[in-house]
Amino acid sequence: MHHAHTALHFVQLHQTDHAAVRAELAAGLQAPVAHVAPKFFYDALGSRLFDAITELAEYYPTRTEAAIFKAHGVAMAQQVPPGAVLIDLGAGSCAKAARLFPVLRPAAYVAVDISVDYLREAMGQLQQRHPGLPMLGLGLDFSAELALPPAATDWLAGQGAAAAPRCVFYPGSSIGNFNRAEALALLSQARAVCAAGGPGGGILIGVDRVKPKAVLEPAYDDPLGVTAAFNRNLLLHTNALLGTDFAPARWRHVAFFNETDSRIEMHLQADSAQTVRWPGGERAFADGEQMHTENSYKWQPADFDALLREAGFGASTHWTDEKGWFSVFWAPV
Ligand code: AVI
Repeated sequence: MHHAHTALHFVQLHQTDHAAVRAELAAGLQAPVAHVAPKFFYDALGSRLFDAITELAEYYPTRTEAAIFKAHGVAMAQQVPPGAVLIDLGAGSCAKAARLFPVLRPAAYVAVDISVDYLREAMGQLQQRHPGLPMLGLGLDFSAELALPPAATDWLAGQGAAAAPRCVFYPGSSIGNFNRAEALALLSQARAVCAAGGPGGGILIGVDRVKPKAVLEPAYDDPLGVTAAFNRNLLLHTNALLGTDFAPARWRHVAFFNETDSRIEMHLQADSAQTVRWPGGERAFADGEQMHTENSYKWQPADFDALLREAGFGASTHWTDEKGWFSVFWAPV
């Protein structure tokens, strides 16, 4: 057994409270406008459907962001100090951060995801490819609150990285799933995490931009129906978690750009009047009634810079693609 010698450690903070999850889902279904939070998209099938979405010609964000990292990684590395602790939010497969290791040359890598189980396999392989890089997998629901727990700061101290600058990495425009107030709260917490490290830290974050509807809407309503399947799978996941009897075939995928609020909205629309039942509750839906499943906010760069400033960061820099569809921002502490 080599485990004692590896620099790979795991800490699970968030324990799934099944009763709380059921209460949250039931409250959403019984609200005047029924809603289910987008975090419930990602069961095993939902995560695979999202991966399939990223392969669609219409879904530009993932490949556009990857091209920006490829073209400007060296310029980014001039902002991010070498020897930083790279803190990857929603790390998943860890692939995006791993591609940046050669240019950013971090001193330690902290991968944060809601469940440490998702991280084990990915980080096991990553550790073999980067044996000299200390890695910590942290299971934490940072959408509720982002802070490094004592177990993580102790681990950093044990790696000699207690005073290293900290770089929070939040790619994929996942910040888009939060409204402005929620995004401000998360970014302020991210800034506090960075500020607790040595000087030179900051945030490297991917942000999807406002663009014509003709580009935005097909990205969320593709002709193959992959996004529709991703949206409807939320009903199957809800059936599994709450014991509802949703019939996915009776719900239509709806996605459009709400210009007033600068966001893509996804909904599921009942194809006929129906009552959904679960142990302890029910909800009647009228013919054509909609349930809200996701917002995906699109930003103008100047507005996102203002948001970063309000969260306490210094003046930001950003890199974009030739069409100006997506931006990767760097903002120092
Ligand atoms: C994860 N998140 C940033 C995706 C987005 O584009 O808002 C989720 C998604 N929903 C539909 N397609 C992709």
